[in-house]
Amino acid sequence: MQYSANTLEHHWMPFTPNREFKDAPRLVVKSKGVELWDHHGNRLLDGSSGLFCVAAGHGREEIAKAVHSALMENDYTAPFNLGHPTSFELARMVAAITPEEINHVFFTNSGSESIDTALKIAMAYHRSRGEGQRTRFVSRERAYHGVNIGGTSLSGMVKNRETFSGVMPNVVCMRHTWLEENRFTRGQPEHGAELAEDLQRMVDTYGGTTIAACFVEPIAGSTGTLVPPKGYLQRLREICDANGILLVFDEVICGFGRLGAPFAAQAFGVTPDIMTMAKALTNGAQPMGAVAVRDDIYDTIVNAAPEGAIELFHGYTYSAHPAACAAGIATQKIYQDEKLFDRADELSDYFLDKVFALQDIDLVTDIRGYGMLTGIDVKPGVVPGIRGTKIQKALFHNGIHIKFTGDAGIFAPPLVTTREQIDEMIGVVRETLETFKD
Ligand SMILES: Cc1ncc(COP(=O)(O)O)c(C=O)c1O
Repeated sequence: MQYSANTLEHHWMPFTPNREFKDAPRLVVKSKGVELWDHHGNRLLDGSSGLFCVAAGHGREEIAKAVHSALMENDYTAPFNLGHPTSFELARMVAAITPEEINHVFFTNSGSESIDTALKIAMAYHRSRGEGQRTRFVSRERAYHGVNIGGTSLSGMVKNRETFSGVMPNVVCMRHTWLEENRFTRGQPEHGAELAEDLQRMVDTYGGTTIAACFVEPIAGSTGTLVPPKGYLQRLREICDANGILLVFDEVICGFGRLGAPFAAQAFGVTPDIMTMAKALTNGAQPMGAVAVRDDIYDTIVNAAPEGAIELFHGYTYSAHPAACAAGIATQKIYQDEKLFDRADELSDYFLDKVFALQDIDLVTDIRGYGMLTGIDVKPGVVPGIRGTKIQKALFHNGIHIKFTGDAGIFAPPLVTTREQIDEMIGVVRETLETFKD
C-alpha cells in the first residue's frame, strides 16, 4: 500500500513532527499480541505497549466481543441523571483492586480528563469542609499529567507548557528526583528521600492551609521512568497528613499491574487520597479514564449538598460510555483470569536483568526501572531530543516500537510478553544503539 503526502495532509497529528512524518510515514496496520505490522508488511515488536496501555497484548477477542455486544445492545446512555448497569460493575471491579479506603470511582475519557477531574474533586472537597481557601496545587519538575489545561498547569516539562502561558495560576513545582549518584539503579534509589522536603518548603513558604493537593506520578513515566527514592513517597504522605493536603497519585502509567501490583500505591506501600488512572483500564481498546477517591472525600462532597441536589457539577457526555465500560470489564476479567499483575511481578526480574545489561553500550548514560517499566537515557546530540527521535525511528525500522521522550526511551512491553520476545526486543535495541549513527 502506498501513501502520499496528499492523503496524509488533513490529520494534524499529536506530539509528532507532522511535516517530517508525512514525508516518510510509519503506519501500523495490524496488531496482535506483542506484534505489530506496518504498511509495508514489516513485523515489529511493541516495546512500549502502544503508549503503556496495552498490558494484556493487542487484539484481545474478549474485549472486542464485549464492545461489539455493548454497541449492539445499548450503544449510548446519557450519563447525567441516568445510568446503565455496566458502569456500576466496572466501578466495583476497580474499587476491588484499589487500596481499602478508596472505593468511589468517577469515569472520564482519558488521563488528561482524569487529572482535570481530580483537580476539581480536590477543590470541591476542601470547599465542602469550609476550607475553600486551599487553591494552590503542588506538582513536580519533569511531571507529565496530560495536556488539558489542568495537566498543562501541573506539567514539569518545559516544551509542554512554554507555549501555553495562560494556564492555571497557583501551581508550584517541587524538584524532580533524578540524581547523578542514582544512575543505573535498579528499583528504588537509595538517595533522594530528602527531595520530599520540597513539599515542606512549599508549606513553609505559602502556608499549608493554602495548598489543596500535591500531585505526583509515583514513577514519573513520560519523562523516562524516574523511580521514587526509598522513603520519598512516605515522606510526601507525612507532610500531606500534617497539613491537610490531599495526596494525588497519577497512576495513569503505573496502574493495572505495570509495577507487579495493581497500583503503585500497593507496590510502594503508600496510600494516596485520590488516584487518577486511564490507559490499561481498558487495555487501550477504548478511550477511558477514571478517578478513584477515598470514601470520606466522596462522603464529604456528597453530604455537603442539599438533599436531592447535584453534588459535583462535573461530568462528560461520554463519562462511563457503555462501550468503554464493556471494554473495561472485559479487560479486568483478563487481568484476573490470567493473573497478569502476578505475571508482571514474576517476569520483571528477567526483564530488568536484560534491560540493565544494556548499560555497557557507549551511547547509554543511565537506566532506571521498576516492574515492567524502564527508562533508558542516551547521550543527547547538539540539540537535546533530536537524537532520541532519530533512535525511535531507527528502532522502528529495525523491528521494535519504543516511545522516546527527548533522549529517554521508555521501554515497557505488554505484561503478556514472553521471555523469548524480551530477548528478541533486547537484541534489536542493542544492535540499534551499538551501531547508531546520527
Ligand atoms: C502520568 C500520566 N498522566 C496523564 C496522562 C494523560 O493521559 P491521556 O493521554 O490519556 O490524556 C498520561 C499520558 O501519558 C500520563 O502518563
